[in-house]
Amino acid sequence: MVFPDDFLWGTATAGHQVEGNNVASDFWALEHTPGSRFAEPSGDACDHYRLYREDIALLRDLGFTSYRFSIEWSRVEPEPGIVSRAAIEHYRDVLNACHELGVTPMVTLHHFTSPKWLPELGGWESEETPDRFAAYCRVVMAELGSLIPYVVTINEANIACLTRRMIKNLPAENFSAEQVPVGADIAGALVGADLPKVFLFAVGEAGPEIAKRAHVQAREAIREVSPSTKVGVTLALQDYQPAPGAEEAALEQWSENFDDFLPSITDDDFLGVQNYTRALVGPGHAPATREGVELTQMGYEFYPRALENVLRRAATAGLPLIVTENGVATTDDTRRVEFVREATEGLARCLADGIDVRGYFYWSALDNYEWMFGYRPKFGLIAVDRATQRRTVKDSARFLGAIAKRNSLS
Ligand code: NOJ
Repeated sequence: MVFPDDFLWGTATAGHQVEGNNVASDFWALEHTPGSRFAEPSGDACDHYRLYREDIALLRDLGFTSYRFSIEWSRVEPEPGIVSRAAIEHYRDVLNACHELGVTPMVTLHHFTSPKWLPELGGWESEETPDRFAAYCRVVMAELGSLIPYVVTINEANIACLTRRMIKNLPAENFSAEQVPVGADIAGALVGADLPKVFLFAVGEAGPEIAKRAHVQAREAIREVSPSTKVGVTLALQDYQPAPGAEEAALEQWSENFDDFLPSITDDDFLGVQNYTRALVGPGHAPATREGVELTQMGYEFYPRALENVLRRAATAGLPLIVTENGVATTDDTRRVEFVREATEGLARCLADGIDVRGYFYWSALDNYEWMFGYRPKFGLIAVDRATQRRTVKDSARFLGAIAKRNSLS
């Protein structure tokens, strides 16, 4: 099937995971604190802070029409109230590079990392954080909004709800680099590390509500200074499927994760859907496992059809949807090709049924820093040599790039 003319075919990255040397951020501090559960620090990452133009050109040449990346709050506002002109000009250069190359940028204003001063001021549990976040968003969008057609305020804004539940339900031993529950890429960083205030979304009860308020206030600020930019959030959405006898529990889990968020986003211009797998829900909401299934490097079940199921459910929000992340961590690139093939087929079925999906962004453009797991999980369409920073295009990049070029699956 042929996709709509202006369908966005993209890849996604996040500043901390690719730029390198994000030294003023809370995560940098966390990675370097003894006792933290990070496999390794982020270091130079993919040196994308310097190599962005080559990377975006490579993606354009492969056929991609869009690129999602994040602006680092800690670079823009390294001290409270002090804006770095150099950082603003850097991101202006990145945005200009996208436009020069004919690539539509989508910018995330908060992708997990915050300035390291924020936790000292109460972090994501402080009543003042929505104001501080909205003020940062206002500065960025007043400066750069005319170059930004799509903006995501907060990446996976529902993660605070997810992490709270996971931490409640699971003992620390469950978070190992080999086998982790879905979403634990972030939650695991907290467990066992006595650093609750360093982490972005504090797990206290206030966290989820503060995140929602921060989004709403940021959206208002953005609309004032950059009315032509389309604003949304992204949500981590698992395809909750019931174990026998747990139908009710699976529905409740979806509802806690999604419906609970709806009032804060119904005025958005789009909803970013992020999905990696399905999750089996047992009675009493206990996570259940399936035997004998193929697992990815994250320990998630290889299940690309989850995307279709989640899109169909997310469509009930009545907002245009954009798949802002979908992907698989594997060293076997033939499995990535298969994942992308099945996921995009599901996407096509949704479109054929009239569901308003405007874009598909694969996570990730590059093999990059997967938070507490370090560089081991390989999500990228493009491999990165950690010693030389040399990029090597994988078959999966050519496969998805060809779909983008044709704007059609076959
Ligand atoms: C979602 C997050 O947005 C991203 O930062 C992370 O790398 C991927 N999931 C893969 O786990």
